[in-house]
Amino acid sequence: MPTRPTILIVDDEKNARDGLRAALEDKYDVYVAADAESALKFLKEEPVDLLLTDLRMAGQDGLELIRTTRHLPEPPICILMTAYGGVSTAVEAMKNGAADYLTKPLNLDEVEVVIAKHLRSRALEIENKELKQQLTPKRATLSEIIGSSAALERVLDTVRQVAPSKASILIQGESGTGKEVIAKAIHRLSRRAAGPMVTVHCAALSPQLLESELFGHEKGAFTGAIERRAGRFEVADGGTLFLDEIGEIDPSTQVKLLRFLGEKTFERVGSSKTLTADVRVIAATNKDLRALVAAGKFREDLYFRLAVVTITMPPLRERPEDIPLLIRAFLKEFNKENEKNVQGFTPDAMRILQTYQWPGNVRELRTAVEHAVVLARGKMAELHDLPPTILANASSLTTSRDSPTAAAPQTSNIPATIGGFPTTGALDVHAHERRLIFEALARTRGNRTAAAQELGISRRTLHRKIRELGLENKRRKSSASSSTESHP
Ligand SMILES: Nc1ncnc2c1ncn2[C@@H]1O[C@H](COP(=O)(O)OP(=O)(O)OP(=O)(O)O)[C@@H](O)[C@H]1O
Ligand SMILES: [Mg+2]
Repeated sequence: MPTRPTILIVDDEKNARDGLRAALEDKYDVYVAADAESALKFLKEEPVDLLLTDLRMAGQDGLELIRTTRHLPEPPICILMTAYGGVSTAVEAMKNGAADYLTKPLNLDEVEVVIAKHLRSRALEIENKELKQQLTPKRATLSEIIGSSAALERVLDTVRQVAPSKASILIQGESGTGKEVIAKAIHRLSRRAAGPMVTVHCAALSPQLLESELFGHEKGAFTGAIERRAGRFEVADGGTLFLDEIGEIDPSTQVKLLRFLGEKTFERVGSSKTLTADVRVIAATNKDLRALVAAGKFREDLYFRLAVVTITMPPLRERPEDIPLLIRAFLKEFNKENEKNVQGFTPDAMRILQTYQWPGNVRELRTAVEHAVVLARGKMAELHDLPPTILANASSLTTSRDSPTAAAPQTSNIPATIGGFPTTGALDVHAHERRLIFEALARTRGNRTAAAQELGISRRTLHRKIRELGLENKRRKSSASSSTESHP
């Protein structure tokens, strides 16, 4: 049953209050107040749909009351009643946030019409808003995927576009880039969202077990098959089957999978009965599946069936603008989990987080933030709260700090390829370093002591870096060329 609209009448004249209340309480739940102060106190505890207030009252007047209600969490529709009608009062009322105004002496029919009109349009507004939310669940359900980089936005656009169809999707990308997160989002945004989402980790099972896991088996089909078991395809009927690490499946299961994708039919292991299931397949891999096809390890026809649409997850190092957003979300998560209140990272820790290459992508960043939250003593997590592997690989700027015998930059242990995707890891670290040093020198107008201080390294290390990164020569050269330009 719909609840009755609520109205608060504010008037310092008792007769006026009671008269209005009597006229309205048939249709509405009516409350009254004798002045603005008690009205506000009431509203703070009990929001109403509509406020009907007199203009002239002792203490705060009606206009002030209306103005103040705008700051309430649920402001009511405000209607001003005044004996001093006129355009200027009306304008003044609207400016202060009133939806309408009524002239005293009141015409009760008019009062009812005006109130009903405004309540109706408010109800329509709310209904529209709710409808809109129902019609656009897509934006809402992608909100847990954090990041605002153009690269991630492109992925999310594709997700929104392909989710409603039944097309098979291949998600590829390095480990930890969020392939599973995307697979789940596609299921949630699809028309089968109410159906099951079933995940199979193909690499975790032996070929025989994988086949029976996917397609099921009859009792006695093989040693250990003590009972008949439905496969994941049957369980996923009406929903989505997520085949993780698809690059790992053996040739015989590849054939069965190919058949399912073509004909929608399969048999349980040890049975000749043909079954069918309505399943959308999403596959993921951190391997280069095309390279596996070229090497003869993955069927080309299966590849094309799986990759009707391919989504490639960008590595985290190619979208550094997502790092601060992810850090904020993970801080929130791990603060809650550990009952801590770490607000952020100190600038030098942040610099490392921004320039590190993240071979383990978002998963590695998440773990790093958890590590830092657990270790942090104060409100800001510091450099030494970061995992040692990150400190060791991030940049030699910090690892060689105060150790004059430190060897060459420790950037060489970043693999040249990760999961089959080429990276430019080591080169990028040099580029980052070069930029950091260059900027620090620019800010300190070439004062190396100040620049070293700002970078958190010794002056000696800075000298060495400048030499190693070829900054010295560059700066000399550039000043030489600029002087030639200005004096041709
Ligand atoms: N955009 C994102 N927003 C929030 N969390 C993310 C995002 N991307 C990844 N994550 C988180 O990072 C972790 C790794 O993500 P996920 O398991 O989806 O990666 P993956 O690509 O499937 O990795 P793997 O290849 O190793 O299986 C998860 O904890 C996931 O919640
Ligand atoms: Mg995964």
